[in-house]
Amino acid sequence: MSTAAVKTTSATLSNLQAAFQGESNAHARYVEFAKKADAEGFEGVASLFRAAARAEEIHAANHAAVIHKMEGEPTAIIEKAEVRSTRENLIAAIEGETYERDVMYPEFIKVAQQEKNSSAIRTFNFALEAETEHARLYTEALATLKTVVPKTKYFVCAICGYTAEKLEAERCPVCNNPKEKFEIIS
Ligand code: FE2
Ligand code: FE2
Ligand code: FE2
Repeated sequence: MSTAAVKTTSATLSNLQAAFQGESNAHARYVEFAKKADAEGFEGVASLFRAAARAEEIHAANHAAVIHKMEGEPTAIIEKAEVRSTRENLIAAIEGETYERDVMYPEFIKVAQQEKNSSAIRTFNFALEAETEHARLYTEALATLKTVVPKTKYFVCAICGYTAEKLEAERCPVCNNPKEKFEIIS
């Protein structure tokens, strides 16, 4: 193997580690945000935070599997979540999801494509698709925060983390796995 090949391989490996760190922290943060939303009486928002938290956990596990495949060891430092009001927590969540959707994952996918790492492309793509939905759902929740929304059911694909309020198709629109693979989180 040439030096260049070693170098390019480690770029995706370190991107996977960064993504693993990001997803692990997003999971931890949303679990705390859900508790806060419940405490403030925003039950519907709490459900959404729990569903997204589960999706981030799935993304972290998917990234970890690829890191292992590349003979790396997934490591994440979980920072203490900064919990504010639910309104502020939603704004912070939208910011994080938007960054992942517009900057982080597109860049990581580009590098993984250059390195022809199909497992990394797949796990990054799964996350990118789910973060796009999370950003949309959080934006909607922020806009309707004044409306009382009770505890709500969300469908989370256990394979790719795709998160939806309704499940109309027979298969996951992102990873194509059958509907049975979805978990119901509320
Ligand atoms: Fe994620
Ligand atoms: Fe997300
Ligand atoms: Fe899926």
